[in-house]
Amino acid sequence: MVGRTKSYFVIVLALTLLIYGAQGANILGLFPSLSPSHLIISMSVAKILAEQGHNVTVVTVLEPTITHKNINLVTVPMTKEEIKQRSETIGAKQKNTSSNRFISILNMSGQMDSMLRKMADVLKDQRVKELYLNKDNHFDLVISGYFMNDYQLGFARKVNAPVVVLAPSPPSQMLNSLIGNPHDKVEKEKGMTFGQRLDSYISSLLYGIFLRQIDQRNRQYYNEIFGDDPTMPEYTDILRNTSLVFFCSHAASEGPIRPSVPAAIEIGGIQIKDKPDPLPKNLEKFLGNATHGAILLSLGSNVQGSHIKADTVKKIFSVLSNLKQRVIWKWDDLDKTPGKSDNILYSRWLPQDDILAHPSVKLFINHAGKGGISEAQYHGKPMLSLPVFGDQPGNAHAMVKSGFGLTLSLLTLEEEPFRAAVLEILSNPKYSQRVVKFSSLYRDRPASARESLIFWTEYVIRHHGAAHLQSPLVHMDFIAANNLDIYALIGAISIGLLLMLKKVVQITCRRLRTKLNKVKKQ
Ligand SMILES: *[C@@H]1O[C@H](CO)[C@@H](O)[C@H](O)[C@H]1NC(C)=O
Ligand SMILES: *[C@@H]1O[C@H](CO)[C@@H](O)[C@H](O)[C@H]1NC(C)=O
Ligand SMILES: *[C@@H]1O[C@H](CO)[C@@H](O)[C@H](O)[C@H]1NC(C)=O
Ligand SMILES: *[C@@H]1O[C@H](CO)[C@@H](O)[C@H](O)[C@H]1NC(C)=O
Ligand SMILES: *[C@@H]1O[C@H](CO)[C@@H](O)[C@H](O)[C@H]1NC(C)=O
Repeated sequence: MVGRTKSYFVIVLALTLLIYGAQGANILGLFPSLSPSHLIISMSVAKILAEQGHNVTVVTVLEPTITHKNINLVTVPMTKEEIKQRSETIGAKQKNTSSNRFISILNMSGQMDSMLRKMADVLKDQRVKELYLNKDNHFDLVISGYFMNDYQLGFARKVNAPVVVLAPSPPSQMLNSLIGNPHDKVEKEKGMTFGQRLDSYISSLLYGIFLRQIDQRNRQYYNEIFGDDPTMPEYTDILRNTSLVFFCSHAASEGPIRPSVPAAIEIGGIQIKDKPDPLPKNLEKFLGNATHGAILLSLGSNVQGSHIKADTVKKIFSVLSNLKQRVIWKWDDLDKTPGKSDNILYSRWLPQDDILAHPSVKLFINHAGKGGISEAQYHGKPMLSLPVFGDQPGNAHAMVKSGFGLTLSLLTLEEEPFRAAVLEILSNPKYSQRVVKFSSLYRDRPASARESLIFWTEYVIRHHGAAHLQSPLVHMDFIAANNLDIYALIGAISIGLLLMLKKVVQITCRRLRTKLNKVKKQ
């Protein structure tokens, strides 16, 4: 009986796969973003789909660190000149171009120009054009990596495939309109005062102006890239064809709480493995015997050992070598380590995610990169962040605000505050409790990020674009979407009624008066 049931099951499963199967689909990922952290997320997505047996072709500008044998890579690298321009843009960003937040919102599009330019050029590159010119290629789905590049959605039409967008962020004003996701003009947080809400409203309006500029730019790029093909639809029509958007967020744990349409799929934490890999022998042993717990120190790949002041390194070493805890320190030059100590193990390469998963690790000292902070939050480890530049100070600030740890500037690091911060996090359980609680909420989902990604990707392929999922708002103009015409009608009727009422009152009054006058005369 059992054997029979089993074979029935196998047959049913095989039939299901035949009918509904999305096995071994050809998927095209367009990931031209110049941000390494976006690329890590995009390539994690590509890798998961490749592991699932799909044939994934990926277009990038940067050389990805994550790969897989089922991923065909098409790289359009930056020229020397573009690399130079880019580092100037980043340098300019670090200087305070404007201290007024409102002005800097309006000025963002200027800074974005060179990045948008490069991403548009990628789609005009012959190697990329081959993807649709070569008629042997067939794609079942396009994944468009998002970086204010809506024109890229046109590429899906070129290869005649449905398109989903992969956004490295939570739902936002910028992406909501693609799928008709509702957007509040005012961010709703507990206890916001009138002033804060007004501020949020004005920012949102200004941001809307910025988005208009970006939209203009997108329209130009669209016409420039696809304008030579008369069969391509208008730019506005291309914006109404997105099957769904994958957002890298998890509202139930991270907030904010707000409504979402079914085509908004959250896959926050997709770059983190569901289950850690076993650690290398030496690390396993080092952590396994750490009776007082252990600390992981990694200042990322941008801040290499040699870029930190020697003096700062000495201070860090002096504090860490005097602790009971064991320390794993990511350090590049093993011939020239900061100093020898029994409790410190230096390593050039570290499986950071797997180490953070180890129960002995009690503290993660980092440079406040987005990736590292996400991993520590996922594994519930408190942090001491030592930011240097770029988005790091902001990331560190948000982490501290959530109560997951402390932050100090690496550039002005002194021995005493550093020691105090390390000891505070190790001895005060509040940081660990907060981040462990977050971690348990973050991981408690009906389906993991990986499972959601696979399910919804194959769902769109199975249902040829899943147009039934689309919100009607995508096809409505501003007036219809906001019922402005209905309000106008109600207003007109109300005014009409008021005018009539006024007339009636006037007439009644006049009659009453004449009657009264008559009575008086009698
Ligand atoms: C940038 O401005 C902020 C606030 O106005 C200030 O705290 C910071 O020190 C400034 N940074 C630089 C590099 O001038
Ligand atoms: C706007 O951005 C440009 C280019 O990045 C910069 O030169 C200019 O100073 C900025 N203007 C303001 C008001 O911040
Ligand atoms: C995978 O996709 C690429 C690009 O379309 C194609 O050239 C290649 O033949 C495909 N491989 C398989 C095994 O289908
Ligand atoms: C860890 O402890 C075990 C048992 O006490 C011992 O055999 C092993 O050598 C220790 N390893 C290290 C790295 O100290
Ligand atoms: C996108 O357009 C194609 C071709 O017109 C259509 O088949 C598909 O259903 C559309 N997808 C969505 C989500 O509207």
